[in-house]
Amino acid sequence: MVHREGTNSNWGLRGDVPADRLLQAIFNNRHEGLVVVDSQGVIGQISESLVDVLQKSQNYFIGRPISETCPYFRRIARVLRTGSPEFGKIQAISGKSVMVDYIPITDHGEITGALAKVTFLSPQYPGEKRPAAGKGRNKISGGHGYGVKYNIDNILGSSPQMIDLKETLLKIAPRNSNVLITGESGTGKELFAQAIHAASLRRAGPFVKINCAAIPENLLESEFFGYEEGAFTGSKKGGQAGKLELADKGTVFLDEIGELPFTLQAKLLRFIQDGEIQKLGSGETFVSDVRIVAATNVNLEQLVKYRKFREDLYYRLNVVNLNIPPLRERREDITLLVDHFIDKFNRLFKFKVAGVSPEVKTIMHRYSWPGNVRELQNVIERAFNILEGNIILPSHLPSSLLKETVYTGEKADHPIASIASALNKGQTLEEIMDQMEKLVILQALMISHGNKAKTAQLLNISRPGLYKKMSKLGLT
Ligand SMILES: Nc1ncnc2c1ncn2[C@@H]1O[C@H](COP(=O)(O)OP(=O)(O)OP(=O)(O)O)[C@@H](O)[C@H]1O
Ligand SMILES: [Mg+2]
Repeated sequence: MVHREGTNSNWGLRGDVPADRLLQAIFNNRHEGLVVVDSQGVIGQISESLVDVLQKSQNYFIGRPISETCPYFRRIARVLRTGSPEFGKIQAISGKSVMVDYIPITDHGEITGALAKVTFLSPQYPGEKRPAAGKGRNKISGGHGYGVKYNIDNILGSSPQMIDLKETLLKIAPRNSNVLITGESGTGKELFAQAIHAASLRRAGPFVKINCAAIPENLLESEFFGYEEGAFTGSKKGGQAGKLELADKGTVFLDEIGELPFTLQAKLLRFIQDGEIQKLGSGETFVSDVRIVAATNVNLEQLVKYRKFREDLYYRLNVVNLNIPPLRERREDITLLVDHFIDKFNRLFKFKVAGVSPEVKTIMHRYSWPGNVRELQNVIERAFNILEGNIILPSHLPSSLLKETVYTGEKADHPIASIASALNKGQTLEEIMDQMEKLVILQALMISHGNKAKTAQLLNISRPGLYKKMSKLGLT
């Protein structure tokens, strides 16, 4: 090895590490990601680990503005403007939780660029296989089999609301505070509860769920606290441990907490205050160390107001609140979720569905999704069961979607505006007319809930004529 003392003195290095090698080592480190932009925010370098996570090629990024190619790093614009670094920003990129440092690059006091340095926080960094071990580690004894299946990487969403929520999740998970997760049905409350446990210091301990709505009221108390042998007729020999005991050193997930009967609310409150459990039919008390994550899709504050839910318990549970917004308030997540569920069902059904048609995309982006992500998942699964080709078309959607997205005249842009923009894009009269025809036919299809005979009638054309037009316009 040639020893060249004095080279690289700018880097403060002694020895034989040339600067380009050093940079290469930094860029190829798979535990971290790096992206470098010039003063205009145009990407000059991006590390392979980041390219992998973003699932694109390096060429896609180099020479293009970072604001267009990876909007996750929107803070870099501020760093370029102000010249002040920002450290330790926790965010999620393509479902991976990461911490980002933004550092300006200056030359004689002038800002010439900036870099974002990304540390992957997820248990897995790109390119690494998930360890096979750990399955069942979170299961509790007694054959209940409750454990966590999900962690933060399974929560998909790149909308600002979801990025904020995941940031909050990572911040609060290591603490022991109780968490109340609120949100409409199907928004992912259980997913979040599991992800909190998985990101907490209790993750090696059990995750135990109690569904307060699914268990009859007279059995709920023993479900929570357990019972001694002979506590009641029909009680098991040897008694039974309650879920609060089984969750010791772990997390208990109280689902549908709004359904908890009033009498049990007082007992739960007492447990939260002193951590003590007294089994049914026993005079003794013992301690169990659990963190409570509760979830509800009803407005607990309303229940408190109408004296259906104890105010003191509400405050004990609601130390931290995670409110998951409905899907219709974060429509930018729809595409990501659709792709995810198509992948999932392709694997499950051994299909090769390539995606949804542009019309389906429009319909999905306009629909109100009262059943949220669960409903979206069901819609995709249903389409898989009826489609023939490899594209999901409007005719594969349930009528509820088609019915609701009928044009009301308010939501859509003015047609003249879209004609002007089409002309500006250089489209011809024929192309524009085709698009208009397509829109009219689609609208008629929606009004008729996909019924072709009715659609033809509505348009005053023959049924074969409708089919001909539909196939010409790529609607079948
Ligand atoms: N952000 C998300 N990314 C991926 N999958 C999601 C997301 N949100 C929800 N899901 C999926 O949607 C389904 C419903 O989620 P979950 O059971 O957590 O909802 P919930 O809020 O508990 O609903 P409910 O109030 O009806 O119990 C699950 O299959 C879940 O995996
Ligand atoms: Mg649920």
